[in-house]
Amino acid sequence: MTANQTGRDAVESYLNQGLRGVWAPICKSVQVKAGAPFGTKIAGENLVLWRDADGKVRCVEDFCPHRGAKLSLGEVQNGNVACRYHGVTVNGEGTIVRVPAMPECALEGRRPLKSFEATECAGAVFVYLPSADQPEAPEFRPPEEFVSDEWQAFACMTHWDCSYRVSLDNAADPMHASYLHADSFTLAYGSKQDTMRLERTDTGFTIERVNQRGVNFDWTDVVVDPGMVYFRLDIPYPDGAGPGGPFRIIGFAVAIDENTHYSFFWRCRKVQGLAAESWRFLYRAFLEDRHWHVLEQDRVMLESIPADARKREMLYQHDIGVSRLRQMMVRKAKEHLKAEAAQLEQQSA
Ligand code: FES
Ligand SMILES: [Fe+2]
Repeated sequence: MTANQTGRDAVESYLNQGLRGVWAPICKSVQVKAGAPFGTKIAGENLVLWRDADGKVRCVEDFCPHRGAKLSLGEVQNGNVACRYHGVTVNGEGTIVRVPAMPECALEGRRPLKSFEATECAGAVFVYLPSADQPEAPEFRPPEEFVSDEWQAFACMTHWDCSYRVSLDNAADPMHASYLHADSFTLAYGSKQDTMRLERTDTGFTIERVNQRGVNFDWTDVVVDPGMVYFRLDIPYPDGAGPGGPFRIIGFAVAIDENTHYSFFWRCRKVQGLAAESWRFLYRAFLEDRHWHVLEQDRVMLESIPADARKREMLYQHDIGVSRLRQMMVRKAKEHLKAEAAQLEQQSA
C-alpha cells in the first residue's frame, strides 16, 4: 500500500465517522425536557443533554466518571446531572460537583468529561463538534430562514440506516427528482434530460439544471462554511398550496456512526401572519403526508446503496455537485487530520 492510499484511507475513515469542526443539529428541542437527561449518539460519541437551572441545554459525554454508566439514565439535580448508579453528579462543564456516598471525596472538582457547546434554534438543539484545528466553537450562524421574521421554518428529524455522506450526495444531485420522485405531487413536472451547472458561492456552491428552473427540484445551494454544513433547495408548489411561493427545504445530515445518520429537514415557507397560520394548517392537514412519501423514496434508495459503493461507482456529468461536495469535505478532513497529527507530535516531544 502506498503512502497516498494510506492517507486516503485515513481521510475516508475520519469522514465516515461524521463531520467535525461544525455546529450540527442533534435532536429536537422538545426531546430535552426539563428535569430529565436525554441520551443520544452523534459522530460516534455518546452524549447526554439536559436543561440547567436557567433552562439552557448542556451537553457532556454520556459516561459517568465513576464506573462508566450512562449519565442519561440518571436525573437532573440543581441544574447538574446525577448518575443513577451511585449518585456521582457532573455539571455542564464536565466537572464532578458531588460524590454523595463519600464525604469530601477527592473526585469532587475534577473535570474528566468532555463538554460541548450547545444552543437552540428553529426548534432544534445544535451542538458544536470540535475538530483538532478548531477546538473552540465558531460563531453560531444559522441559515437566514431560521431567524428571519419573513420565514416560517419547522423542524423534522428522521433516522436513516446509511451514511450521512450518502444523504449529502443525494442533496447535491437535483436530477434524481425527475426519476425517483416522478410519481409525486410536486416533482412530476419538467424535462427528464438536462446538463448540470455548478457555481461557487461565498459559502460553498450552487448546483443547478441548465435548462430548467422553478419547475421541479432544479437546484441546490450547498453550504460548507462557516462552521456548518447544510443544503437549501426549493420545491415548486401548485396554486392549491396557498400563498408563499415554493416549499423550501433546509437539510442537515448528521452521522450517528458510519452506517446510520439523522436527516434533519426544516420545512420553510416565506409567509407571515395569517398566511403563516394557514400554511401550517395546510401543511399538517394535506401536504405533510406527501412530503413523507417523497422522503421515504429517498430513504429506501439511499439505504440500498452499499457502504463501499464509492469504490465501484461511475460518475457522469450530473454528479459534478457530488464531486465538488466530496472534494470540499476531503479538504476539511485533511486540515483536521494534519492538526491532529501536529498535536500528537507535540505531546510526544
Ligand atoms: S457509575 Fe455512576 S455513580 Fe457509580
Ligand atoms: Fe429526493
